[in-house]
Amino acid sequence: MSEKKVLLSGMQPSGALHLGNYEGALRNWVELQNSGKYEMFNCIVDWHALTSGFEDTEKIVPRVYEMAADYIAAGLDPDKTAIFVQSQVKEHAELHLLLSMITPIGWLERVPSYKDKGDQLGLDSYGFLGYPVLQTADIILYRAHVVPVGKDQLAHLELAREIVRRFTYLYGEVFPEPEALVTKFQVLPGTDGQKMSKSYGNFIALGDEPEEIKVKVMSMFTDETKIHKTDPGHPDDCPVNIYRTIYDTEWTQEIAHLCAAGDSSMGCVKCKKALVQALTDYFADFRAKRTELLADKAILDGYLRDGAERARTRAVETMELVRDAMKLMYGIV
Ligand code: TRP
Repeated sequence: MSEKKVLLSGMQPSGALHLGNYEGALRNWVELQNSGKYEMFNCIVDWHALTSGFEDTEKIVPRVYEMAADYIAAGLDPDKTAIFVQSQVKEHAELHLLLSMITPIGWLERVPSYKDKGDQLGLDSYGFLGYPVLQTADIILYRAHVVPVGKDQLAHLELAREIVRRFTYLYGEVFPEPEALVTKFQVLPGTDGQKMSKSYGNFIALGDEPEEIKVKVMSMFTDETKIHKTDPGHPDDCPVNIYRTIYDTEWTQEIAHLCAAGDSSMGCVKCKKALVQALTDYFADFRAKRTELLADKAILDGYLRDGAERARTRAVETMELVRDAMKLMYGIV
């Protein structure tokens, strides 16, 4: 048995990933994988997508493929990380059901996303209320020790820990209490300066072609007080400058100083052109790999099948421990 701690990461299949997803999660997952410190599981949570998207189910499968391709192209290595689809490991459903028996409704009603998202999107299903119970099952099915998440997921992680404590109190110790590994990152602004989000239409996808990058970058918001080249800029708050500091190997503090000083050698157009080139180069290998992966679904299917098999092995083992702890063992199977 491996001595390594188990790490479980997860994301809803939202289709092509954008720079905000990359900086907020994926880049960190790749680093955690490459640190070699963890046994890695990455779950694409297609059932969770149904809590809000049960009407347009035809989008789910293509989104799962796109996301898997993005993960692998960005450096998640299917040999090192078991990348799998939640619905392909049925034990998620069994554990979710068992956990639902010991989770008081009051705990779920107190989760902030239940009220916020529920009101905002008009969601009131049983499955939506149980979203964090399914998330708990995703995590503890692998007896995961750590879960890399953004701050927005801390309430879900806390609930997972509460459910684990209750399970342990009732039936004995099967699960470690999962810990959140909070990713520290800068919230990446979108092309309009707001938080980058698919629903705001202000994103640059990792797989955007050079032409799309150009159109999006050239129309980016910079600094509304810098109208003429010689007006002093505020590079710290300017999305173009923020992106350049991350993706442009040519970027220097000197460039930001020139912008702040209103030096005519560093206007916004020139700066944007440099960013177009930088992003085009930075993601060139990514685009090639992504295109190759999406051109032949059989290869992706193979990775996902293999990932699900590895996940299932651990999940089956966990469920035996669970049934044993809950005294639900029969001799007939
Ligand atoms: N709720 C998570 C999100 O919206 C997605 C998720 C589902 C998840 N199951 C998980 C994240 C398990 C981490 C671990 O981002």
